[in-house]
Amino acid sequence: MNDFWNKKKSIIRSDILVNSELLKIIGDVKGKTILDLGCGDGTIAASLSKKGAKVVGVDKKEHSIKLAKEKDGKYLCKDIRKVNLKKNEFDVIYSSMVFLFLSDKEIKDLAKKIYHWLKKKGVFVISDIHPTTEIQGDNSFWVKHDIPNNFDYFKTSEVKATLRNKNNEKSTFTYFHRSLSTYIEHFTSAGLKMIDLCEPQATKELMHKFHLGFENKNPAYIILKFIKD
Ligand SMILES: C[S@@+](CC[C@H](N)C(=O)[O-])C[C@H]1O[C@@H](n2cnc3c(N)ncnc32)[C@H](O)[C@@H]1O
Repeated sequence: MNDFWNKKKSIIRSDILVNSELLKIIGDVKGKTILDLGCGDGTIAASLSKKGAKVVGVDKKEHSIKLAKEKDGKYLCKDIRKVNLKKNEFDVIYSSMVFLFLSDKEIKDLAKKIYHWLKKKGVFVISDIHPTTEIQGDNSFWVKHDIPNNFDYFKTSEVKATLRNKNNEKSTFTYFHRSLSTYIEHFTSAGLKMIDLCEPQATKELMHKFHLGFENKNPAYIILKFIKD
């Protein structure tokens, strides 16, 4: 089995730039019920479990769930588009680097469910590729995009990308580009209110350690936080 997504063996750019900011924006989790949509090998979920949260991670990849089950937390091997959970069950729902794989319709449908699963005053946090990624040019060590000639920032469209990990191995995938306003609207139209936005930046220390010069001047990711008011 390919270990590209096994965090014990393969670090990718979002692990370096997103994870610590995501944890900061999620905030204090002690005693909270948390849902991780697309938990991968459970690295982030397990770190929240260790801080005293009751975390459920969901991912469709059997191999990832097998790795996650070796860590703290409860894990389900399911497609997040089909999972059924109880109303008002979670204080926090988050999803990191997953919604880029969903179409606009799939996100809209899931946003309604997220609203339903959250307790009142519960928060939803999402991190994803920055919506301006495709118009920034391609000078990153970590990722190359195959931008179609007719690319239009305002239209949701599929883009091919090749991601490199710190061991110099590559993984190619297709994801959905969508504009920032489209992103936000999918969640606000489900009833969620946006309360925070973060564009993680490479510090000098990270720049030197991980070839992140391009990322110091260009936003690679975005983290959005919403509340069920
Ligand atoms: C880039 S990885 C991110 C993993 C983890 N959230 C992290 O940040 O380390 C994307 C994950 O989303 C999962 N995924 C994508 N579409 C999914 C779906 N429809 N249902 C469940 N999991 C999905 C993949 O299996 C993969 O583990």
